[in-house]
Amino acid sequence: MKERIVINCALPYANNHLHIGHIAGAYLPGDIFNRYSRISGKEVMFICGSDEYGTPIALQAEREGKTPMEVATEFHLEHMNTFKSLDIGFDYFGRTTDPAHEKYSQEFFLKLMEKGFLEKRKVISSYCQVDRRFLPDRYVHGTCPNCSSENARGDQCDECGRINDPQDLINPRCSICGNPIEFRETDHIFFLASKLEKEIVNWLKGKEDWKNNVRAFSLNMIKDGLRDRSMTRDMDWGVKVPMEGMEGKRIYVWFEALLGYISNAIEYSRKSGKDGYWKEMYQDGNLYYFMGKDNIFFHAILLPAMNMASGELPTPKMVSANEYLTMKGKKFSKSRGIGYTVDDMLRIVDKDSIRYYVSSVLPESSDSDFSLEEMKDKVNSELNGKYGNLVNRVISFATGKGIEPLKGKADELDDQMLLDMKKALDLYRQSMDKIEFRKALSIWLEAVKTVNSYFNQSKPWDIIKTDMDATRSKIWHSLKAIEYLTLMIYPFVPSGAERAWKAIHGVELGKGEELFSHLDEGCSFKIRDEGIIFRKIELEPEGTNQMHLVVGKIVEAEDHPNADSLLHFKVDLGSKIIDLVAGLKKYYSPGDILGRKIIVVENLKHSKIRGIESQGMLLAAQDSAGAHILTTEEKEGTEVTLGDEPYDGSGTITIDDLKEYELKTEERDGLAVPSGLLNRNRLVLKANGKPLSVDGKVESNSLIR
Ligand code: 2FM
Ligand code: ZN
Repeated sequence: MKERIVINCALPYANNHLHIGHIAGAYLPGDIFNRYSRISGKEVMFICGSDEYGTPIALQAEREGKTPMEVATEFHLEHMNTFKSLDIGFDYFGRTTDPAHEKYSQEFFLKLMEKGFLEKRKVISSYCQVDRRFLPDRYVHGTCPNCSSENARGDQCDECGRINDPQDLINPRCSICGNPIEFRETDHIFFLASKLEKEIVNWLKGKEDWKNNVRAFSLNMIKDGLRDRSMTRDMDWGVKVPMEGMEGKRIYVWFEALLGYISNAIEYSRKSGKDGYWKEMYQDGNLYYFMGKDNIFFHAILLPAMNMASGELPTPKMVSANEYLTMKGKKFSKSRGIGYTVDDMLRIVDKDSIRYYVSSVLPESSDSDFSLEEMKDKVNSELNGKYGNLVNRVISFATGKGIEPLKGKADELDDQMLLDMKKALDLYRQSMDKIEFRKALSIWLEAVKTVNSYFNQSKPWDIIKTDMDATRSKIWHSLKAIEYLTLMIYPFVPSGAERAWKAIHGVELGKGEELFSHLDEGCSFKIRDEGIIFRKIELEPEGTNQMHLVVGKIVEAEDHPNADSLLHFKVDLGSKIIDLVAGLKKYYSPGDILGRKIIVVENLKHSKIRGIESQGMLLAAQDSAGAHILTTEEKEGTEVTLGDEPYDGSGTITIDDLKEYELKTEERDGLAVPSGLLNRNRLVLKANGKPLSVDGKVESNSLIR
């Protein structure tokens, strides 16, 4: 019987686009291991799905005027497509809103109750008298006791990162209605994890094959003890707590999401007509989990504790977590506009290039930096230049000259090369088994270089002049080497490897079979010219910020003498005072606007408007209610950056140049903030690092002119 393994990737929250950081953290490593395990002859069940409950999704839906189910469905479908477009091949991708998941989670909950691992306790919780409901921690806002930020949430302060309880906040308010909250007593169900503390510590200590970023990190997290934690929440978007008196409460999203691995496996088995299959796989197989580092606690501590408490589910064999992918040193984050979504990236380069480059910079032991330029260099010189090129050279030489590859007598070079390949494969497999994918990839790259010099030294173009049999054998040996290289690269860039395999064998690569032992055989090759295997990456030059935006203060304001809709200002830019004309008269009177801070496009081509030269333009957002000037509390003369990109100093721009930045307000954490596009990234406009604001209440997605 085949050795069995279950591979799970952390279920992504269904409320945002997947970005390259998610792919590098959990999904690409999971798929690399999936593909590698299959061609190593293992029976694999590869499971994932959407994590659809919890406060962030409920809050987002509220903000967007949708139901949580609508938000979740939209992203569930999008994520499925995204994974497919990157060749991430789950056997099943389910969702936690599936009724089967609810059923399984509730049964599991009751089982832990029965076994004495859950207990009802009274706790003090946030209550809003206006909305007449208890509030989850995230629905409470107030002043952070640590950094005094006024917008700290009841669970965490985004400004300083401190983990808060709602009770820690100064002036805690309800996030729904803004009124002060009170604290009331209510019931919650606690998981008595403390009972399992010793067992978990010993279990973790025994995991000597885990990387330190998970094992040492986890042990450190519970060095002061494993706390009992509440496994219920006050909200209505989630799995109902299956007990009387707990109406209006839901199971904590992490508790049920972790059970999603199993409920999805159950659904997979049911839908593929092999009902008990998941159970067999869980019983016989080793369990592997792939995730980003912010998920470690839940998989290395909470999940095994839940499984131990249930008394029937096996604990993970391997918890593998990656650190963060960064861009210019900052963590990828869609909401902060750092880094690329998968879809952004696929508009620039193909999936093989993304997979190859991301594999080569996987943040396996520390954070690592992503750069488009580096991606281009690596793909062009390694994947395409060394490997793809080698395959093309051998094949086009052989087909061009009509050479039928045939294993003949091997010379010293051939023997040495085969020996090198065997050695490389050995080292490669040791690394792959230890989930050291970057190392495995670098072993592959060394092997590619070896084969390139083998082919160059062999000079079949010379041999063919005198000895056809020797040439046929050379080509056979070269193809054998390519076969090694192709299988080794397959888990990383499956589509390209499949093209190469087809080019040397004439048939598809059999993904579900053991293939490595094939390498030892004296197989025959059926070559055909499949054309280019990998494409070169061409990048457009990176754009820079050509807008010179400066904070100005209006020091004189009057109606334009020659026009009904215009105002005329004198604006202090710190270093100089300029004239500005703006079409704001319908929305602002000279008296209202005098003394206000505005944002001026200082390097806009001057233009004479009804007799007055406007030496720049002020920025305002336009929505259905009218125009709202962009403003800030920073001093006049302060430079405004696009994201963190300062003005590049390149000189005068036109209105058309300005339009390229597609300035508009965008929703960030519930606020409409001014933003612009640079290199396909939407970035926030900032003065002294603080986002600009808009005068009055403005709709998001309003154009800025
Ligand atoms: O961090 C995340 O994206 C979580 N949704 C991961 C959940 S993994 C497990 F619980 F399913
Ligand atoms: Zn309220």
